[in-house]
Amino acid sequence: MPDQSFLVYGPRVAIRHISFEDREEIAALDRESAALHRPWVPARATTPDAFREYVARFDRPTHEGFVVCLRANGAIVGGININNIVRGGIQSGALGYVAYASTTGRGYMTEGLRLVVEYAFTALGLHRLEANIQPGNTASVRLVERLGFLREGYSPRFQYVDGAWRDHERWAITAETTGHAAADGSA
Ligand SMILES: CC(C)(COP(=O)(O)OP(=O)(O)OC[C@H]1O[C@@H](n2cnc3c(N)ncnc32)[C@H](O)[C@@H]1OP(=O)(O)O)[C@@H](O)C(=O)NCCC(=O)NCCS
Repeated sequence: MPDQSFLVYGPRVAIRHISFEDREEIAALDRESAALHRPWVPARATTPDAFREYVARFDRPTHEGFVVCLRANGAIVGGININNIVRGGIQSGALGYVAYASTTGRGYMTEGLRLVVEYAFTALGLHRLEANIQPGNTASVRLVERLGFLREGYSPRFQYVDGAWRDHERWAITAETTGHAAADGSA
């Protein structure tokens, strides 16, 4: 049974850290969502060894891994990571996120990502979050636009996904946009 201690609550969903105990639920969700995820995000292995290695990444201060859960029953409806966190005068991290096929298109990810952004700019003291999105990924672009991210630029052949180096747009949000005090860069 995963630790259900939530970090931040929205009206319908809450976020908590991912744990190894989430493996079977996430493996089933990944399986049902293979077509939704390809070619937008790299496939993730969910064998016990691979998943243990995956969650171990979040023991490092440079990575934070969350699951988005329904408040009603704790079911996982999304996953959101903050990767490659840089401190000092940058205070920035790179987002990765997925919805799942059976619960996509209901606004859960909009709510969940808003909670992660809030957590990042308060508890984590970050100042900026970026999302690198393939230009054809309209669901993802719509998601970050709704939350106030701005398109910063274009990165040709940015990431290897589904057998090819894919161009990505770089979208980002800073703490000022959300009304949170900006970190002072002294950490
Ligand atoms: C990108 C992704 C996470 C977006 O997930 P999502 O399910 O569309 O996001 P939400 O749960 O916030 O749902 C938003 C949609 O629900 C609709 N919706 C329905 N009921 C709603 C409600 N009660 N409240 C809010 N929105 C609601 C919204 O209008 C919106 O539809 P639209 O995009 O057509 O305008 C998802 O498409 C995905 O996993 N894609 C594959 C992986 C991926 O691309 N990851 C990101 C790589 S950069």
